[in-house]
Amino acid sequence: MKKTGSETCKLQVVGNPIGHSKSPDIHQAFARQFDRSLDYQKALVDVDSFDQHATDFFANQGGLGMNVTVPFKEAACSFVNHLATSAEQAGAVNTVKYTNGQSWGHNTDGVGLINDITRRWQFPLAGRLALILGAGGSTRGILQPLVDAGVATVVVANRTAAKAARLVERIKAQGIAAFVVPLPVTLASLASVTGGLKLPEVVINTTSIGLQLDAMDSLMAPEVLTQAFCYDLSYGTQARFHSWAKTAGALKSVDGLGMLVEQAAASYNIWFQEWPDTEPVYQQLMHRIRADEN
Ligand code: ATR
Repeated sequence: MKKTGSETCKLQVVGNPIGHSKSPDIHQAFARQFDRSLDYQKALVDVDSFDQHATDFFANQGGLGMNVTVPFKEAACSFVNHLATSAEQAGAVNTVKYTNGQSWGHNTDGVGLINDITRRWQFPLAGRLALILGAGGSTRGILQPLVDAGVATVVVANRTAAKAARLVERIKAQGIAAFVVPLPVTLASLASVTGGLKLPEVVINTTSIGLQLDAMDSLMAPEVLTQAFCYDLSYGTQARFHSWAKTAGALKSVDGLGMLVEQAAASYNIWFQEWPDTEPVYQQLMHRIRADEN
Protein backbone atom coordinates (compact mmCIF):
# COMPACT_ATOMS: atom_id res chain seq x y z
CA MET A 1 0.00 0.00 0.00
CA LYS A 2 1.29 3.46 -0.89
CA LYS A 3 1.65 6.24 1.69
CA THR A 4 -1.73 7.81 2.33
CA GLY A 5 -1.98 11.15 0.57
CA SER A 6 1.45 10.84 -1.05
CA GLU A 7 1.65 11.50 -4.77
CA THR A 8 3.86 9.89 -7.36
CA CYS A 9 7.08 11.94 -7.42
CA LYS A 10 8.72 12.69 -10.75
CA LEU A 11 12.48 12.19 -10.86
CA GLN A 12 15.06 11.68 -13.59
CA VAL A 13 18.67 10.75 -14.13
CA VAL A 14 20.10 12.87 -16.92
CA GLY A 15 23.22 12.00 -18.91
CA ASN A 16 24.70 11.15 -22.28
CA PRO A 17 25.04 8.17 -22.56
CA ILE A 18 22.47 7.04 -19.99
CA GLY A 19 21.40 3.51 -20.97
CA HIS A 20 23.73 1.87 -18.43
CA SER A 21 22.45 3.86 -15.43
CA LYS A 22 21.43 1.86 -12.36
CA SER A 23 19.89 4.92 -10.66
CA PRO A 24 16.23 4.14 -11.50
CA ASP A 25 16.54 0.62 -10.02
CA ILE A 26 18.33 1.89 -6.92
CA HIS A 27 15.81 4.66 -6.21
CA GLN A 28 12.81 2.43 -6.85
CA ALA A 29 14.27 -0.04 -4.33
CA PHE A 30 14.73 2.77 -1.78
CA ALA A 31 11.18 4.05 -2.39
CA ARG A 32 9.71 0.58 -1.74
CA GLN A 33 11.22 0.73 1.76
CA PHE A 34 9.00 3.75 2.49
CA ASP A 35 5.96 2.78 0.36
CA ARG A 36 6.62 5.74 -1.89
CA SER A 37 5.58 5.88 -5.50
CA LEU A 38 8.23 7.20 -7.89
CA ASP A 39 8.15 7.97 -11.57
CA TYR A 40 11.95 7.82 -12.06
CA GLN A 41 13.09 7.86 -15.70
CA LYS A 42 16.39 7.89 -17.57
CA ALA A 43 16.74 10.95 -19.81
CA LEU A 44 19.22 10.94 -22.68
CA VAL A 45 19.89 14.61 -23.33
CA ASP A 46 21.75 16.21 -26.21
CA VAL A 47 25.13 17.55 -25.02
CA ASP A 48 24.12 21.18 -25.62
CA SER A 49 20.61 20.94 -24.20
CA PHE A 50 20.93 20.46 -20.45
CA ASP A 51 19.47 23.86 -19.45
CA GLN A 52 16.54 23.56 -21.82
CA HIS A 53 15.80 20.03 -20.66
CA ALA A 54 16.06 20.82 -16.96
CA THR A 55 13.94 23.99 -17.26
CA ASP A 56 11.20 22.02 -18.98
CA PHE A 57 11.37 19.13 -16.51
CA PHE A 58 11.09 21.32 -13.43
CA ALA A 59 8.91 24.21 -14.64
CA ASN A 60 6.54 22.38 -16.99
CA GLN A 61 6.54 18.71 -16.05
CA GLY A 62 6.40 18.92 -12.27
CA GLY A 63 9.81 17.34 -11.67
CA LEU A 64 10.84 17.14 -8.02
CA GLY A 65 14.45 16.18 -8.50
CA MET A 66 17.18 15.01 -10.80
CA ASN A 67 20.36 13.02 -10.69
CA VAL A 68 22.96 14.37 -13.07
CA THR A 69 25.75 12.34 -14.59
CA VAL A 70 28.43 12.64 -17.30
CA PRO A 71 28.77 15.08 -19.09
CA PHE A 72 26.35 17.46 -17.35
CA LYS A 73 27.64 17.83 -13.77
CA GLU A 74 29.30 21.20 -14.47
CA ALA A 75 26.37 22.42 -16.59
CA ALA A 76 24.05 21.60 -13.70
CA CYS A 77 26.26 23.70 -11.45
CA SER A 78 25.57 26.80 -13.58
CA PHE A 79 21.91 25.90 -14.09
CA VAL A 80 20.72 25.76 -10.49
CA ASN A 81 19.55 28.82 -8.54
CA HIS A 82 21.40 27.78 -5.38
CA LEU A 83 24.46 25.66 -4.67
CA ALA A 84 24.92 23.61 -1.51
CA THR A 85 28.44 23.67 -0.05
CA SER A 86 29.05 20.11 -1.30
CA ALA A 87 28.44 21.20 -4.91
CA GLU A 88 30.38 24.43 -4.56
CA GLN A 89 33.43 22.53 -3.28
CA ALA A 90 33.15 19.86 -5.98
CA GLY A 91 32.46 22.38 -8.76
CA ALA A 92 29.83 19.90 -9.92
CA VAL A 93 26.23 18.94 -9.20
CA ASN A 94 24.95 15.37 -9.19
CA THR A 95 21.64 16.02 -7.41
CA VAL A 96 19.06 18.73 -8.02
CA LYS A 97 16.02 19.40 -5.87
CA TYR A 98 13.29 21.71 -7.11
CA THR A 99 11.18 23.36 -4.48
CA ASN A 100 9.03 26.55 -4.41
CA GLY A 101 10.13 27.44 -7.93
CA GLN A 102 13.84 27.28 -7.05
CA SER A 103 16.43 24.67 -7.92
CA TRP A 104 19.13 23.59 -5.46
CA GLY A 105 22.29 21.80 -6.55
CA HIS A 106 24.08 19.30 -4.32
CA ASN A 107 26.92 16.84 -4.75
CA THR A 108 26.57 13.52 -2.93
CA ASP A 109 29.55 11.71 -4.51
CA GLY A 110 31.89 12.65 -1.67
CA VAL A 111 29.58 11.65 1.14
CA GLY A 112 28.80 8.46 -0.81
CA LEU A 113 32.48 7.52 -0.91
CA ILE A 114 33.07 8.34 2.75
CA ASN A 115 29.98 6.43 3.91
CA ASP A 116 30.98 3.41 1.85
CA ILE A 117 34.55 3.33 3.16
CA THR A 118 33.78 4.04 6.80
CA ARG A 119 30.40 2.29 7.26
CA ARG A 120 30.19 -0.58 4.76
CA TRP A 121 33.90 -1.42 4.85
CA GLN A 122 34.47 -0.21 8.41
CA PHE A 123 37.73 1.48 7.51
CA PRO A 124 38.34 4.62 9.61
CA LEU A 125 39.87 7.52 7.69
CA ALA A 126 40.99 9.76 10.55
CA GLY A 127 44.74 10.38 10.58
CA ARG A 128 45.40 8.40 7.37
CA LEU A 129 47.78 9.05 4.50
CA ALA A 130 45.67 8.96 1.34
CA LEU A 131 47.02 8.59 -2.19
CA ILE A 132 44.64 9.63 -4.94
CA LEU A 133 45.27 8.60 -8.53
CA GLY A 134 43.86 11.18 -10.96
CA ALA A 135 43.04 14.87 -10.69
CA GLY A 136 39.88 15.31 -12.73
CA GLY A 137 36.30 16.09 -11.73
CA SER A 138 35.93 13.00 -9.55
CA THR A 139 39.00 13.87 -7.50
CA ARG A 140 37.79 17.43 -7.02
CA GLY A 141 34.49 16.02 -5.71
CA ILE A 142 36.05 13.71 -3.13
CA LEU A 143 39.01 15.75 -1.82
CA GLN A 144 37.20 18.00 0.63
CA PRO A 145 35.00 15.18 1.99
CA LEU A 146 38.18 13.14 2.62
CA VAL A 147 39.71 16.08 4.47
CA ASP A 148 36.48 16.54 6.43
CA ALA A 149 36.61 12.83 7.32
CA GLY A 150 39.95 13.50 9.02
CA VAL A 151 42.53 12.27 6.49
CA ALA A 152 45.85 13.72 7.69
CA THR A 153 47.97 13.68 4.53
CA VAL A 154 46.87 13.76 0.90
CA VAL A 155 49.05 12.86 -2.08
CA VAL A 156 47.62 13.37 -5.57
CA ALA A 157 49.24 11.62 -8.54
CA ASN A 158 48.27 12.65 -12.03
CA ARG A 159 49.51 12.48 -15.61
CA THR A 160 49.08 16.26 -15.87
CA ALA A 161 50.89 17.59 -12.80
CA ALA A 162 49.46 21.12 -13.03
CA LYS A 163 45.91 19.82 -12.49
CA ALA A 164 47.00 17.92 -9.39
CA ALA A 165 48.85 20.99 -8.11
CA ARG A 166 45.72 23.18 -8.39
CA LEU A 167 43.67 20.71 -6.32
CA VAL A 168 46.41 20.28 -3.74
CA GLU A 169 46.74 24.06 -3.23
CA ARG A 170 43.10 24.27 -2.14
CA ILE A 171 43.50 21.79 0.67
CA LYS A 172 46.94 23.03 1.67
CA ALA A 173 45.26 26.37 2.35
CA GLN A 174 43.37 24.58 5.13
CA GLY A 175 46.54 23.45 6.81
CA ILE A 176 46.42 19.86 5.51
CA ALA A 177 49.70 18.24 4.43
CA ALA A 178 49.17 17.76 0.70
CA PHE A 179 51.59 16.81 -2.09
CA VAL A 180 51.78 16.03 -5.80
CA VAL A 181 53.67 13.03 -7.21
CA PRO A 182 54.15 12.06 -10.84
CA LEU A 183 52.91 8.81 -12.37
CA PRO A 184 53.91 6.06 -11.94
CA VAL A 185 53.99 6.36 -8.15
CA THR A 186 56.96 4.62 -6.58
CA LEU A 187 58.18 4.24 -3.00
CA ALA A 188 61.04 6.61 -3.81
CA SER A 189 58.85 9.31 -5.38
CA LEU A 190 56.42 9.16 -2.46
CA ALA A 191 59.19 9.36 0.12
CA SER A 192 60.78 12.29 -1.67
CA VAL A 193 57.62 14.43 -1.62
CA THR A 194 56.30 13.46 1.81
CA GLY A 195 59.75 13.57 3.37
CA GLY A 196 59.40 10.12 4.91
CA LEU A 197 58.90 6.46 4.31
CA LYS A 198 55.30 6.12 5.45
CA LEU A 199 53.23 4.06 3.03
CA PRO A 200 49.74 5.13 1.91
CA GLU A 201 46.94 3.63 4.02
CA VAL A 202 44.24 4.50 1.50
CA VAL A 203 44.66 4.50 -2.29
CA ILE A 204 41.76 5.77 -4.39
CA ASN A 205 41.70 5.40 -8.16
CA THR A 206 39.62 8.02 -9.95
CA THR A 207 41.21 7.62 -13.41
CA SER A 208 39.69 5.66 -16.24
CA ILE A 209 43.12 4.25 -17.04
CA GLY A 210 42.04 0.90 -15.63
CA LEU A 211 40.10 0.26 -18.80
CA GLN A 212 43.42 -0.51 -20.45
CA LEU A 213 44.57 -3.91 -19.24
CA ASP A 214 48.29 -3.27 -19.37
CA ALA A 215 48.05 0.23 -17.93
CA MET A 216 48.70 -0.47 -14.26
CA ASP A 217 52.46 -0.22 -14.59
CA SER A 218 52.02 3.38 -15.63
CA LEU A 219 49.98 4.10 -12.49
CA MET A 220 52.08 2.72 -9.67
CA ALA A 221 54.57 0.19 -8.39
CA PRO A 222 52.80 -2.65 -6.52
CA GLU A 223 54.92 -2.20 -3.39
CA VAL A 224 53.25 1.18 -2.81
CA LEU A 225 49.97 -0.45 -1.83
CA THR A 226 51.02 -3.21 0.58
CA GLN A 227 49.61 -1.29 3.58
CA ALA A 228 46.63 0.16 1.76
CA PHE A 229 42.90 -0.10 1.61
CA CYS A 230 42.41 0.33 -2.15
CA TYR A 231 39.27 1.84 -3.62
CA ASP A 232 38.33 2.00 -7.29
CA LEU A 233 35.64 4.53 -8.20
CA SER A 234 34.66 2.25 -11.10
CA TYR A 235 32.69 -0.92 -10.48
CA GLY A 236 32.08 -4.29 -12.15
CA THR A 237 34.27 -5.23 -15.11
CA GLN A 238 35.51 -1.65 -15.44
CA ALA A 239 37.13 -1.77 -11.99
CA ARG A 240 40.45 -3.08 -13.26
CA PHE A 241 42.46 -1.15 -10.70
CA HIS A 242 40.47 -2.95 -8.00
CA SER A 243 41.23 -6.40 -9.49
CA TRP A 244 44.85 -5.51 -10.00
CA ALA A 245 45.29 -4.14 -6.46
CA LYS A 246 43.83 -7.37 -5.02
CA THR A 247 46.45 -9.48 -6.74
CA ALA A 248 49.24 -6.93 -6.27
CA GLY A 249 49.16 -7.35 -2.49
CA ALA A 250 46.86 -4.62 -1.20
CA LEU A 251 45.63 -4.94 2.37
CA LYS A 252 42.11 -4.80 0.97
CA SER A 253 40.61 -3.76 -2.36
CA VAL A 254 37.02 -2.85 -3.23
CA ASP A 255 35.21 -1.43 -6.24
CA GLY A 256 32.93 1.61 -6.35
CA LEU A 257 29.55 -0.12 -6.29
CA GLY A 258 29.00 0.82 -2.66
CA MET A 259 29.72 4.47 -3.45
CA LEU A 260 27.12 4.33 -6.22
CA VAL A 261 24.48 3.11 -3.76
CA GLU A 262 25.56 5.47 -0.95
CA GLN A 263 25.57 8.59 -3.14
CA ALA A 264 22.08 7.59 -4.30
CA ALA A 265 20.94 7.23 -0.67
CA ALA A 266 22.21 10.74 0.08
CA SER A 267 20.31 12.07 -2.97
CA TYR A 268 17.18 10.26 -1.81
CA ASN A 269 17.59 11.89 1.58
CA ILE A 270 17.83 15.34 -0.03
CA TRP A 271 14.54 14.78 -1.84
CA PHE A 272 12.56 13.01 0.88
CA GLN A 273 14.38 13.56 4.22
CA GLU A 274 14.47 9.77 4.69
CA TRP A 275 17.58 7.55 4.88
CA PRO A 276 17.09 4.24 3.08
CA ASP A 277 18.72 1.02 4.24
CA THR A 278 21.43 0.66 1.59
CA GLU A 279 22.71 -2.83 2.40
CA PRO A 280 19.92 -4.92 0.77
CA VAL A 281 20.04 -2.69 -2.31
CA TYR A 282 23.84 -3.03 -2.52
CA GLN A 283 23.63 -6.83 -2.17
CA GLN A 284 20.93 -7.14 -4.81
CA LEU A 285 22.84 -4.97 -7.27
CA MET A 286 26.09 -6.83 -6.66
CA HIS A 287 24.43 -10.20 -7.35
CA ARG A 288 22.77 -8.88 -10.48
CA ILE A 289 26.03 -7.44 -11.83
CA ARG A 290 27.86 -10.72 -11.10
CA ALA A 291 25.13 -12.70 -12.86
CA ASP A 292 25.31 -10.39 -15.89
CA GLU A 293 29.09 -10.81 -16.03
CA ASN A 294 28.88 -14.61 -16.12
P1 ATR B 1 36.37 12.33 -13.96
O1 ATR B 1 35.26 13.34 -13.85
O2 ATR B 1 35.87 10.92 -14.01
O3 ATR B 1 37.42 12.54 -12.93
P2 ATR B 1 38.04 13.61 -15.87
O4 ATR B 1 37.78 14.92 -15.21
O5 ATR B 1 38.03 13.53 -17.37
O6 ATR B 1 36.99 12.53 -15.41
O7 ATR B 1 39.44 13.04 -15.30
C1 ATR B 1 40.01 11.86 -15.78
C2 ATR B 1 41.28 11.56 -15.00
O8 ATR B 1 41.85 10.34 -15.51
C3 ATR B 1 42.34 12.62 -15.11
O9 ATR B 1 43.09 12.67 -13.91
C4 ATR B 1 43.21 12.10 -16.26
O10 ATR B 1 44.53 12.58 -16.27
P3 ATR B 1 44.88 14.02 -16.92
O11 ATR B 1 44.46 15.05 -15.92
O12 ATR B 1 46.36 13.98 -17.12
O13 ATR B 1 44.12 14.09 -18.21
C5 ATR B 1 43.19 10.62 -15.94
N1 ATR B 1 43.51 9.77 -17.11
C6 ATR B 1 42.69 9.46 -18.15
N2 ATR B 1 43.32 8.67 -19.04
C7 ATR B 1 44.57 8.49 -18.58
C8 ATR B 1 45.73 7.78 -19.03
N3 ATR B 1 45.71 7.08 -20.17
N4 ATR B 1 46.85 7.81 -18.27
C9 ATR B 1 46.87 8.50 -17.11
N5 ATR B 1 45.82 9.20 -16.63
C10 ATR B 1 44.70 9.20 -17.33
